[in-house]
Amino acid sequence: MQVFYDKDSLSEFIKTQKKLNKKIGFAPTMGALHAGHISLYKEAKRDNDIVVCSIFVNPTQFNNPDDLEKYPRTIDDDIAKLADSSLVDAVYIPKTEDIYPHGMLRKHYDFGGIEKEMEGAARPGHFDGVGTVLEELFRQVQPDNAYFGEKDFQQLKIVEKLVQILDLKIKIHGVKIYREANGLAMSSRNMRLSQKEKETSALIYQTLMHVNDWFKVLSVGEIKSRVKAIFDKENMDLEYFIIADEATLKEVDFYSNDKSFRAFIVVNVGAVRLIDNLHLD
Ligand code: PAF
Repeated sequence: MQVFYDKDSLSEFIKTQKKLNKKIGFAPTMGALHAGHISLYKEAKRDNDIVVCSIFVNPTQFNNPDDLEKYPRTIDDDIAKLADSSLVDAVYIPKTEDIYPHGMLRKHYDFGGIEKEMEGAARPGHFDGVGTVLEELFRQVQPDNAYFGEKDFQQLKIVEKLVQILDLKIKIHGVKIYREANGLAMSSRNMRLSQKEKETSALIYQTLMHVNDWFKVLSVGEIKSRVKAIFDKENMDLEYFIIADEATLKEVDFYSNDKSFRAFIVVNVGAVRLIDNLHLD
């Protein structure tokens, strides 16, 4: 596994791979790697000749400076985990100026409205920041396939739209949420939870499973009040819960059999913001 610490050395590597006609699979990350990330590389390894990982904590997608400052940074551990996995051929750890040569500027994108829902409303500018860093990483890594976890389902939809807007020939793959044994969706942010908080956070997935059972028999209004009651009872801070059309990400208030639906939830556990979702069937 090779590690590249700047854009020029990565570029040499990519040029060689392209000359050799190698298919490149890519999964960008912000580090603090866990088994969920490794599951992305497993899929990438299956479909490609070369697998590239990037690690870059992207300042322009954070709207809360405290969240950016506290974001876990575990670069040596990350490199060791990737090497142990034997799944990754190249790790790219760019310098800030490799991604932002003209200063920390966030581009603006029109993602057709999906950027305004849920996380877009809760974290203004977040998806412009995600688009900005991914546009640059995609141009530098030039992947054939790119892999994103479904935990950030809205981000996955944004990335699909981004490659369409930029007319990039990259196939985007969504990878199923990887969960702890108690159902908690794996996330780099989980490192900041205490053992007790990890246990109580299991309620998030348990609730989503109830929602799946309730969806075809109860009104959305009734489901929302039940979900609120569950978290109120445990004194947990439910930031939002919605059921949305999977295509538009717009909130729905009734079931219809011609669409796919997904439940989305955000719960603040201590100082940690946990997000999760479940396809409803
Ligand atoms: O999901 C993430 O870790 C980040 O949003 C990403 C895709 C690496 C862009 O910074």
